[in-house]
Amino acid sequence: MEKTAIQFLKPEDFDATVNGKKVGLYKLENSSGAVAEISNLGARLLSLWIPDAEGNFDDVVLGPATIEEAMSNDLQYFGTIIGRCANRIRNASFILDGKSYKLTQNEGNNHLHGGQKGFDSVVWEVTHHSEGQLRLAYISPDGQEGYPGTLEVRLVFELTEDNTLKIESFATTDATTMVNLTHHAYFNLKGAGNGTIYDHELQFNASHYIPTDKDSIPLGTLENVKGTPFDFTQTAKIGKRMGEAGEQQVFGHGYDHSFVIDGALGVLKHAATVYEPSTGRIMQVHTDQPGLQLYTANHLEGSQGGKNGHRYKKSSGFCLEAQHFPNSVNQPNFPSIRLDPGQEYSWVCWYQFLTEHDVGAYPVNS
Ligand code: BGC
Repeated sequence: MEKTAIQFLKPEDFDATVNGKKVGLYKLENSSGAVAEISNLGARLLSLWIPDAEGNFDDVVLGPATIEEAMSNDLQYFGTIIGRCANRIRNASFILDGKSYKLTQNEGNNHLHGGQKGFDSVVWEVTHHSEGQLRLAYISPDGQEGYPGTLEVRLVFELTEDNTLKIESFATTDATTMVNLTHHAYFNLKGAGNGTIYDHELQFNASHYIPTDKDSIPLGTLENVKGTPFDFTQTAKIGKRMGEAGEQQVFGHGYDHSFVIDGALGVLKHAATVYEPSTGRIMQVHTDQPGLQLYTANHLEGSQGGKNGHRYKKSSGFCLEAQHFPNSVNQPNFPSIRLDPGQEYSWVCWYQFLTEHDVGAYPVNS
């Protein structure tokens, strides 16, 4: 598909008023023609048009075709910012400075992705929009979904000239709280709707992963990946390793696990590379977070609506969610996600797009 064939979303399909606040579609574009479209409802990345090795553009993120689909449960998290705490919190509760906090239970007894009305479903204020940058802000009131403290969150989306989508967040609080944001895009480097991601080749700079229980909540240990289907220290096809899966992937119905990124905590570093051989597209993820959650879209059943009438089936996308480890609030041996007044929370995730011409072909080692 040539650049001229980029199918921009229609603003009228995404313009709405939600809870009395205006919601719209915001476009970022660079001079080589890459495009990102974002809604301020949920700070949702709706499309991302990136060239392949031949210079043809495809939209590499799955997502809704209209604001109504965006607000449906089925596509709830696609492309959104998740907060205050990503992933699951056991029994939807935690103890902070001796006080017990009860959060919304929205997955059995547990708390998932910030609760019933997390950051994925609130209207963010647009504080700046230019061709290359969108800035959003949201004030999460004290007690929202059970979390203490008023949390002021800022987000910056930037599409650079070298085809990197940089997403950064900063937050401050007026009372001690817990924060663990993530970005929840479903990628398919062949283009959204073009089949599964089994042939995508993945490499993680992670020598450990975090095993979970049957509810996909960490057991609390960091396990060495050596000799397990979680060993992506050398490039490997995602689908092949899914086939090798044992009990862990039965629990997650595929990959739904945090990988522990090697290197110093809080430092921006290269965490993972994904290569798609038929298009030659490469995505590198860089983050300052300690973990990357690999989720192979295990729960998609094809009932979901999506752009161009696509129905997204199991593993039609993959998520690489930069975040602290799930359930950190209840796991003293995990890095802390506590935020105190006077401190500034920072979260950085860059999705850098290249092609095999930029780096030479990516060999598959297993
Ligand atoms: C979680 C999955 C969950 C999915 C929902 C992922 O971040 O790890 O367990 O089903 O989000 O969209």
